[in-house]
Amino acid sequence: MTKDEALKVLKEHDQMHVMEGFDELSAAQQEMLLSQIADLKWEEIALAGNQKEIPLGEITPIKGMDIEEVNAKKDEFEKLGLDAIKEGKVAALLLAGGMGTRLGLDKPKGELNVGIDKTLYIFECLINNLMDVTKAAGKSIPLYIMTSEKNNDETIRFFEEQNYFGYPKEDVAFFVQEMAAAVDYDGKLLVEEPGRLATSPNGNGGWFSSLKKAGLLEDVHKRGVEWINIFAVDNVLQRICDPVFIGATLDSGMVSGSKVVRKVDPYEKMGVMCLEDGRPSVVEYYELSDEMAQAKNPDGKYTYAYGVILNYIFRVDKLEEIVGKSLPVHVVEKKIPYMTSAGEFVKPTEPNGYKFETLAVDMIRLMDNNLPFEVVREKEFAPIKNLHGVDSLDSARELLKGNGVEL
Ligand code: UTP
Repeated sequence: MTKDEALKVLKEHDQMHVMEGFDELSAAQQEMLLSQIADLKWEEIALAGNQKEIPLGEITPIKGMDIEEVNAKKDEFEKLGLDAIKEGKVAALLLAGGMGTRLGLDKPKGELNVGIDKTLYIFECLINNLMDVTKAAGKSIPLYIMTSEKNNDETIRFFEEQNYFGYPKEDVAFFVQEMAAAVDYDGKLLVEEPGRLATSPNGNGGWFSSLKKAGLLEDVHKRGVEWINIFAVDNVLQRICDPVFIGATLDSGMVSGSKVVRKVDPYEKMGVMCLEDGRPSVVEYYELSDEMAQAKNPDGKYTYAYGVILNYIFRVDKLEEIVGKSLPVHVVEKKIPYMTSAGEFVKPTEPNGYKFETLAVDMIRLMDNNLPFEVVREKEFAPIKNLHGVDSLDSARELLKGNGVEL
């Protein structure tokens, strides 16, 4: 893009402030800024502050597999899952491109030490959990790790420094997700440094297209991987590539599965699985009517009870089918570091603008079917979103101890 083209498009969108001081920039900085401007997604930026609510379709309950059903066939499922792993059909994919702003850490979230008397990093917990499975299967599992421009180098450096926590390095591949420009509350593009717009990772919904863009889909095929288990960085208790979950999904004949925990309160802040116009979907707790939130089955369990915990398994051929389809864009309030027009750098302590994200959870809606697979919350759900309080380092430490993990 030339300077004139940039001026034209910025004028059209009332964003001319971005070009202030352009002539004083080095040639490399000018080029960087022009390429960022060329990549701007104006239809997303237009959503800032006026995102329309997408009306829900017809919501009906989804049939899931409750813990009792899982337990009744546990051995059978486990064998099926372990066989699939032994045949190399399963890969793990860690979503670690987020900024973890709520935690306020200056490094990747996975580098947080959850240990007390010893060091135990989040990344280490996850690798340990995965190694429980690789040991049981007698086979290593390919692990793809999605990072972002902001934390990629540091994440790789850390894994190298820690010798991959004993995981075979040749089975780990990193790839970088895409970024999206961020704006202030007036919808104005923020500048991060001279010649550079402020950007943020574009949400975890682009993981498969980023994997593909990085050329790693070839690796997936070369290894004969048919299923990918994606999981969040911050749930230190989660079971990854859990053979029972994999086996149950295979046995169901479905193309995707979701680990879920049973809601303890009708208004618990979790995405809840349901059918939307007959397709699997996850709705936010506040999107359900009171009647739906409180509805109970004859056995006394909540009808809309399956809360998702960002641990899903997808069949690779189905992912390839949907890769071009667009996901809804979510406009999220965030703390976005920026540079003022006077050249002063600001690291806000409160949200100061919007970023634009697509979410992996919205991929469920693009699947023909999905198996909600219930797990025991106290054994598999210890997310660390904050330092203290709900879903925090404190609560995760208690849960880890309760599960016999030495801290
Ligand atoms: P969160 O929703 O907790 O977002 O991510 P976050 O950015 O890490 O944290 P906050 O909201 O700023 O405090 C859920 C999972 O999705 C990953 C995160 O790394 C985490 O594993 N994620 C999130 C990405 O991989 N990319 C993104 O752009 C956003």
